[in-house]
Parts: sequence; structure tokens; C-alpha cells
Amino acid sequence: MADFDFSTTKTLICAPGSSSRLSELCKALDISNLMLVTDKGLLDAGIIQPIVSQLESNKIKPLIFSDVIADPPEEVVIEAASRAKENRIDGVLGLGGGSSMDVAKLIAVLAKGEVAIEHCYGIDQISSDRLPLILVPTTAGTGSEVTPISIVTTGKTTKTGVVSSRLLPDYAVLDAELTLNLPAHVTAATGVDAMVHAIEAFTSKVKKNFYSDMLAKQALSLLSQNIGTAVKDGQNIKARQNMLLGSALAGQAFANAPVAAVHALAYPLGGHFHIPHGLSNALVLLPVLKINSSVVYEQYSELLECFNAESEDQTSVSRAESFIDEMEKIIDDVELPRKLSDLDIGEQDLPLLARDAMLQQRLLVNNPVDIQEKDALAIYQSVF
Ligand SMILES: NC(=O)c1ccc[n+]([C@@H]2O[C@H](COP(=O)([O-])OP(=O)(O)OC[C@H]3O[C@@H](n4cnc5c(N)ncnc54)[C@H](O)[C@@H]3O)[C@@H](O)[C@H]2O)c1
Ligand SMILES: [Fe+2]
Repeated sequence: MADFDFSTTKTLICAPGSSSRLSELCKALDISNLMLVTDKGLLDAGIIQPIVSQLESNKIKPLIFSDVIADPPEEVVIEAASRAKENRIDGVLGLGGGSSMDVAKLIAVLAKGEVAIEHCYGIDQISSDRLPLILVPTTAGTGSEVTPISIVTTGKTTKTGVVSSRLLPDYAVLDAELTLNLPAHVTAATGVDAMVHAIEAFTSKVKKNFYSDMLAKQALSLLSQNIGTAVKDGQNIKARQNMLLGSALAGQAFANAPVAAVHALAYPLGGHFHIPHGLSNALVLLPVLKINSSVVYEQYSELLECFNAESEDQTSVSRAESFIDEMEKIIDDVELPRKLSDLDIGEQDLPLLARDAMLQQRLLVNNPVDIQEKDALAIYQSVF
């Protein structure tokens, strides 16, 4: 067995209704002047008000920052951090999808006033401590509540990562009650994002290890067996809780065995065309799996077990093909679009996407197969 390091969020609370414990957790962290970081969609969905009432009845009056937008731009992070500093907040609660949690993580660092955001990009660049931090996902997708990563849109179109163990929160709270009204198309796209985290962690070239493999397989089992129900019967609390746990396990896996070419090719779609992160991943997933299969067919063959679709007399190569077929069935079953041309992307845009994908070398180095610009272009063309 290869040697490895493994880090994750210190405390994970996984139970329907567990967001009722947020006041207790703030108290445990000595937070009295909290900033609650979220977005307008969550406010409109009525998810924030009951939590504010709970906090206020426990004498914690949160400052609400709800200006997070999807694929958060750097300016939003800077604005939020300056509001946090002005108001001398002493703790941060990120409540929402990956966008809200990623912004919350950076506020917890920047509000200390010791570093500026431009010095945080890249791996292990944060030299400052952070404020106490609690993360509560309301999508079952990014796993941001257990990753040391925050993704920011820099410039107009590029997505840049901050990666530092300082971004791991003190608590991650997985409460499926908060996800019951997540629209079906968001459930589908974010759920596929989580599945991609598990798959890419399992085949990650550099840091894949015993622990990340175990988590990735368990994550893929939970996600593949619950995504259909969560999409079609959104009020099913058991499926929703399983999706949240699956996405957290996948997050723990890829936090330690990083994602690769699917994400590298997905980011330019988000940056240029604002295609939601999970959908961007779903669009490029199948061609990347087919290319990688020439090298990691044994690993894909092993992942087939997660789908309860075993057949004893197959070779590893044909089992790997069956694994890709299973993923294709799920993408069709949850009714995600399959073609870039369905999403207002023109054929003339593909070379630009391929060029931008090459900026994601941080991710491409983890891919089992070397992907050059011409390969990226061929992948985009194959799903055009
Ligand atoms: N930090 C990480 O490790 C990591 C990993 C993968 C992706 N990301 C980043 O996360 C972001 C994507 O996050 P996301 O896919 O969770 O989407 P998101 O946070 O952008 O949210 C998508 C939409 O869903 C709505 N929404 C969220 N929860 C809801 C609920 N329970 N009910 C009703 N509406 C709800 C939001 O208001 C928003 O409009 C991207 O910026 C991506 O780059 C981060
Ligand atoms: Fe992702």
C-alpha cells in the first residue's frame, strides 16, 4: 500500500434536522457576531429565515451577506470580506451551495485582515489564520464543506482555486431537510458533480490512496443508488440525506486525491457561458471517461460494483465499458442535456474552450491520460 497523508473537516454532523443545532455550534466556537453567507436563491426559497430565527432566539444576531452569485467573482469575495471587517464579525456560517460555501471560506480568512485575496491563489499560499467557520451545504454536489478548496472567478472568465487546509471548516452540517425543495435540474446537475468527484478521485494519478479509494467507492454507491429518487421525488428525505452523505464522502476523497480532466474541461464552460458547474461536468464526462478507459479500465471495472450491475464473465475492458454505459444511463435518466449546441454554444467557440482548458494544469496533471489542447478540442467537438 502506498504512503499517504489524509486531511478532512474535524467534525461532520450528518442527520436530517441537524441545522437546528447551529446556535449550539456557534456557542461551542465562541461566536457572538456571526456573518451568515448565502445567496438570493436560498433567501427566496425560505431556507434562511428559520435559521436566523433560531440564532436570534439564542442571542446571536447574524449579519446576512446574500450577494453571492454562482461561480463567485473575486469582487464579491472582496466586498463580503470588507463588510465582515467593518462589522468586526467573529465567525462565519456558509449556508448554500458550493458558491456560498466557497465565499464563506475565504471571508473567514480575509476578515482577519492579515492577507489579501491575490496572495491566496494556488496551493498552500494562505499564511494567515481564519475565524471560526461552519459550513452547511444545501446542494448535494460540491462537497465544499469537507474540501480545503475555494473556487473564484478571476478576471472575466477564468476559474482559479485557493487550496489550503486552513479552508477546512470547524463543523460541516449535513441536513437533508434544507435540500427538499432543491429544483430537479439542480439536484441532477449537482448530483452528477459529486459522482464525478468520486470517479476522478478514484483514478487520480498523483495522490490516490487507500482512504480516498474507500471513500470514493462508498460515495459512488450512495450517489448512483439515490440520484434518480432525489431528482424525481425531491421530498424523499432518505434519498436526500444519502445524496448529502455521498457528496461529502466524494468531497473527502477528492480533497485528498484531486480531480482531473473532467473538471479541467468543465471550468471553461462555466467561465465563458455560465453553465452550472455540475452540468458542465456532465457534458464532458463521457468522452473523458472513454479516453481514460484505455489506461484505467481496471479501476473503472472495479467502480462498476457501485452500480449493482455486476456480471461475472466479463473482462476488465468490457466491465469498464459497462461502467461508462451506467454513467450514461444516469445522465439520461436525470434528463441532463448532452450537447453543447443545446446550450447556445457555437462551434466557433470550441477552440477558445480548448485553449482555456489548458490553463487548468493544476487539474490536468492528475488525469491518468495526458490531455493536450488538440485532445480537449476533440472532446468538445464530440459533444457539440
Ligand atoms: N470548494 C470545492 O471543493 C468545490 C468543488 C466543486 C465545485 N465548487 C464550486 O462550487 C460552485 C457550484 O456550487 P453548486 O453546484 O452547489 O451551486 P451554487 O452554489 O452556485 O447554487 C446553484 C443554485 O441553486 C440554488 N440553491 C442551492 N441550494 C438550494 C436549495 N436547497 N433550495 C433551492 N435552491 C437552492 C442557489 O440559490 C443557486 O441559484 C462553483 O463555483 C464551483 O466551481 C467548489
Ligand atoms: Fe466539481
